[in-house]
Amino acid sequence: MHIGIIGSGKIGGTLAAHFATAGHEVAIANSRGPETLRELEAELGGHVHAVTAREAAEFGEVTVVAIPFGRYTDLPSGAFDGQIVIDTCNYYPDRDGHRADLDRDATTSSELLQEVLPGSRVVKAFNAIRFDDLREQARRDGAQGRRAIPVSGDDAEAKTVVGALIDQIGFEPVDVGTLAEGGRRHQPGTAVYTVDLNAQQLREQLESAPKHP
Ligand SMILES: NC(=O)c1ccc[n+]([C@@H]2O[C@H](COP(=O)([O-])OP(=O)(O)OC[C@H]3O[C@@H](n4cnc5c(N)ncnc54)[C@H](OP(=O)(O)O)[C@@H]3O)[C@@H](O)[C@H]2O)c1
Repeated sequence: MHIGIIGSGKIGGTLAAHFATAGHEVAIANSRGPETLRELEAELGGHVHAVTAREAAEFGEVTVVAIPFGRYTDLPSGAFDGQIVIDTCNYYPDRDGHRADLDRDATTSSELLQEVLPGSRVVKAFNAIRFDDLREQARRDGAQGRRAIPVSGDDAEAKTVVGALIDQIGFEPVDVGTLAEGGRRHQPGTAVYTVDLNAQQLREQLESAPKHP
């Protein structure tokens, strides 16, 4: 599969390595341009190509957004139409600047991302695992009890595609609902955020968590 990744830092770089190992073609971008990514490109081998953000968005059948949430309106407009977008981002007001709607829980960061990428199908995933765990806990043998990754989104088919990618790179996808309902259940401050849980443990935690009104 062709996978674009916007953001080449801790999460974007780790996912690029996993997807390339799984045999996908990856186009990766940062904010400063592809010439600043030659070292990463060389390190990750022939399946990873350094490109601009627009090229990364246009390359992928699936595009990962792995940037500080506060920069989400910088994403190249119109480039994501028809695509599945994996949103790894989290809202951290100290880093991203305060937003009144998020501070009063009137919406979620993933719903805001979906609003600026209307032709795409946003799936929230990989936001609730630290990058070093993402790098080190992959179990590609499909072993029982491997770490679960919560997945939320409004499009069932898009969640299935993302779930298959998660399984391929060595984790257990768990569908936790829509962007609004599910997304709230694995964002910062929740009981499952960055906690090492297998699928059963994740479901148990989510069942005991308070539901959004
Ligand atoms: N770190 C974690 O363990 C972790 C875990 C789960 C989720 N997350 C979330 O995932 C997102 C990425 O986190 P990270 O830790 O990977 O961040 P990071 O290491 O700081 O990397 C951020 C990347 O985003 C790029 N970027 C920033 N603005 C951009 C723009 N307008 N267009 C294109 N690229 C842009 C940066 O490019 P430059 O290098 O050119 O500045 C950099 O490559 C955040 O929302 C974070 O909250 C992080």
